[in-house]
Amino acid sequence: LHTPKAVIVIFGATGDLAKRKLFPSIYKLYKSGKIGDDFAVVGLARRPWTNEVFRTNVRESLQNALSMEEDTEEFTSHFYYHPFDVTQAESYTELNGLITDLESTYNTDGNRIFYLAMAPEYFGSIAHRLEEYGLKNSDGWTRLVIEKPFGHDLKSAKELNKEIRVAFNEDQIYRIDHYLGKEMVQNIEVIRFANGIFEHLWNNRSISNVQITSSEELGVEERARYYDHSGAARDMVQNHMLQMVALLAMEPPIKLTTDEIRSEKVKALRALRQLEPEEVDEYFVRGQYGKGTIKGNELVGYREEANELHDSNTETFVAGKVMIDNYRWAGVPFYIRTGKRMAEKCTKIVVEFKDIPMNLYYKEEAEKHPNLLVINIQPNEGITLYLNAKKSGMGSMAEPIQLSYTNNGVSGINTPEAYEKLLFDCMIGDTTNFTHWDEVAHSWAFIDTVLNRWQEVKADFPNYTSGSMGPDAANQLLEKDGFHWWDVAKSE
Ligand code: BG6
Repeated sequence: LHTPKAVIVIFGATGDLAKRKLFPSIYKLYKSGKIGDDFAVVGLARRPWTNEVFRTNVRESLQNALSMEEDTEEFTSHFYYHPFDVTQAESYTELNGLITDLESTYNTDGNRIFYLAMAPEYFGSIAHRLEEYGLKNSDGWTRLVIEKPFGHDLKSAKELNKEIRVAFNEDQIYRIDHYLGKEMVQNIEVIRFANGIFEHLWNNRSISNVQITSSEELGVEERARYYDHSGAARDMVQNHMLQMVALLAMEPPIKLTTDEIRSEKVKALRALRQLEPEEVDEYFVRGQYGKGTIKGNELVGYREEANELHDSNTETFVAGKVMIDNYRWAGVPFYIRTGKRMAEKCTKIVVEFKDIPMNLYYKEEAEKHPNLLVINIQPNEGITLYLNAKKSGMGSMAEPIQLSYTNNGVSGINTPEAYEKLLFDCMIGDTTNFTHWDEVAHSWAFIDTVLNRWQEVKADFPNYTSGSMGPDAANQLLEKDGFHWWDVAKSE
C-alpha cells in the first residue's frame, strides 16, 4: 500500500485548533509511517510570519500537545507559511504558485487538501475563490475539509452548502465531526453488528430507553464570542450527540461502504420525531451554569465569565428526549444530556434493557437492577454489561454484577487520535466518518424547532450550579417516564 501524498493547506494555521490538534496529528501520522516524506503543509493566516517563525510555532505546539522533547526539525522542514488575506485575489494566485512549487519538491502528484480551520463566515467565499483562481485544477485530487460550525441553523447551513457545492462535489467535501473519529464512537457499529446477542435485543421489545451523556468540566474558556452565539444545542447536540443517536439507532448496513453506512444513518435521522413548538417544553430542558465548585476550585457563573455575557440567555446545558418514529424504535426514548461545568468530563452511552416480568431474587422490588450495556467513550474507553447473578454463599438472592472490557490501546481526553484518524481518512479519500450534507440538514431541521421555541420563551438562568449534573428539570425529564439517569461511575 502506498502512503498518501498531498500538500495540506491549513486556513487558520495560527489558531488554536491547528496547534492543539492538527499539527500533533500530522506529526503522529508521520512518526507512525502512515504518511511518508511526500507531503508539505502550508499554513495560512493574516499574521506576517516567516517559515521559520511558523516552524518554531509548530515545534512548540508538538511539545505542548504531546509532552515530548523529540527532535522535530526534519518534520517541520515540510511546513511553509504564507501570510494570507482571504478576501484578496493576489493571496490566492500567490498560494497557487507556492503549492505548485511544493508539488514538484515533494512529489505529491498534484493532490491538495484545503483545510478550513477558521472563522466560518469565510468558508463559502474561500471555497468559491479556490475554484475561481484555479487552485482546484491540479492533476491530482482536491479535497476540502470543513470544521464546524456548518451553519447556524438549517437556512444558513443550506446557503453555505450551496456556496460550497458550486465549487466542490459532495464527495470532495469532508465535514468534520471529531466525535466520529473517537475510538469508541467508531466501536458502536462493531459492538452492534459484530455480536449476534445484541442485534436480537436492539429494539423496542427489549430496550426501555437509551441515555447519552457528554459532560464537561470546562466552562466557556476563551471562546465567549463564538459560544454565546452558539450555545450547547448548536455546539454539541446538532452534531456530536445526534451523530451518536444515529449510530445507535441505524439499521445494519448491507456492506461496510461509505454510501451504505451513510444511507442508514440518514434514514435514522429522518425518523427523528419533529416536535411541535409547545412539545419542546416537555421534551427539552436547557440550562446555564451559575457559580459553584469543581474539584475544589471555586468557579464563577457563565454570566460572570466575560463582560458581554452579563445578561446572556445562551444555554450551556441541554437535556432532551429524542423519539425515533420507526418500526424498531417506536416508544423508546433516547435521552441526551450535555453541558459545560458539570461534575466530571465524561461521555458515555447507557442502553437500558426492559425489566424482567417478575421479581424473584430481590427482597424489594426497588433493589432490582435492569440489564445495562454501558459504552464508555471517554475518558476511559470500554464496555460494561450489567447483569444479575447469585450472591455468593447461602441463599438464592441476586446482586448486580458487571462484565467489563477496557480498551487500553488508546486513552485520555483530547488526545489528537480522533483528528489523526480523520485526517488520514481524508488523505486516503474515505468519507465514511465525515458528515454528509443530508445528515447535517436533518440534524439542523430537528434542532431548529427546539431553538426557535427557546427564542420565544425567556429562560430562567442561571439554573444549575457549576459542578452539578445540570438543572433538576433534567432529572424530572426521565422521572416522568419512570426512569432515571444512570450515573454509572466513569471508571467502570
Ligand atoms: C467541540 C465543542 O465540538 O467539542 C466544544 O465546540 C467541546 O465546546 C468539544 O468542548 C468537546 O469535545 P471532546 O472531544 O473534548 O469531548
